[in-house]
Amino acid sequence: MASNRSYWRSRKPKNARKLGRGYLVRCDALDLLGSLRNECADIVFLDPPFNLGKKYGSRGGKADRNSESEYEQFMQSVLRESVRILSPGGALYLYHLPQWAMRLGAILHGEMTFRHWIAVSMKNGFVRGNHLYPAHYALLYFTKGVPKTFNRPKVPAATCRSCGQFVKDYGGYKRYIESGINLSDIWEDLSPVRHAKYKKRPENELPLELTNRVVQISGEKNGLLVDPFVGSGTSIISAYDASMRYAVGDRETTYCDITEERLKEHIEKKILKVLCAENLP
Ligand SMILES: C[S@@+](CC[C@H](N)C(=O)[O-])C[C@H]1O[C@@H](n2cnc3c(N)ncnc32)[C@H](O)[C@@H]1O
Repeated sequence: MASNRSYWRSRKPKNARKLGRGYLVRCDALDLLGSLRNECADIVFLDPPFNLGKKYGSRGGKADRNSESEYEQFMQSVLRESVRILSPGGALYLYHLPQWAMRLGAILHGEMTFRHWIAVSMKNGFVRGNHLYPAHYALLYFTKGVPKTFNRPKVPAATCRSCGQFVKDYGGYKRYIESGINLSDIWEDLSPVRHAKYKKRPENELPLELTNRVVQISGEKNGLLVDPFVGSGTSIISAYDASMRYAVGDRETTYCDITEERLKEHIEKKILKVLCAENLP
């Protein structure tokens, strides 16, 4: 059962903005995590910068490029703090490139229970040097001991675009398949939102379906989701829809503004939908 106790360690950070059921803070990830009390979170969702030299934020955003050891140390601290704030049975998700998922996952070994390495399909990856074509991102899923919440979402079975038939042969199980198949650890139907028309920020953002699944698997009503690299706010849309609370942050003002705007718009649309439905004859 999710607790309604305050999740701040002492007082909430000065610049915390109240947003719907939670707070958004413009600050460094370690400051946000550090301001939260032990064992308060049900989900910690981490989609950190990949240390590839990307510049976040339209004006004056900091470039994301540190030495490997500096980056590893930073991520080590982020993971240590994430484990500290997770409640027993709480879930940690880390989205990263496989080479970093492997190194950072190893840090969690012994502290957390490994659940899954989820392969999220990467479209339009580039072959570099003498490597194979990179076709997936890793979404690591760990829990602090036995998961306190675990739901297995059902997803529609893949069908052929032209004939509408199932792509795989399900033999005599076809009629069960019609209500959906159990979600596997390969998510081929998702990839980062790249088209400017569909995303809220110039850089790639996560597809909403990805964070929806995370919340579906490990979320509970009134539970707390923490995302210290919130970017354009994808995770809080999912948390809001699942009636969760959230404490999120980003170092860049531009993204905090985008997140705030996105959630406000989302809430307004939902209210409008309810009002329209109530007024239907
Ligand atoms: C990969 S993006 C997250 C994208 C997000 N999941 C979405 O769907 O929009 C990483 C974010 O982390 C932020 N960031 C980078 N370094 C940070 C730090 N040290 N503390 C807090 N935020 C940071 C960047 O500004 C960027 O918005």
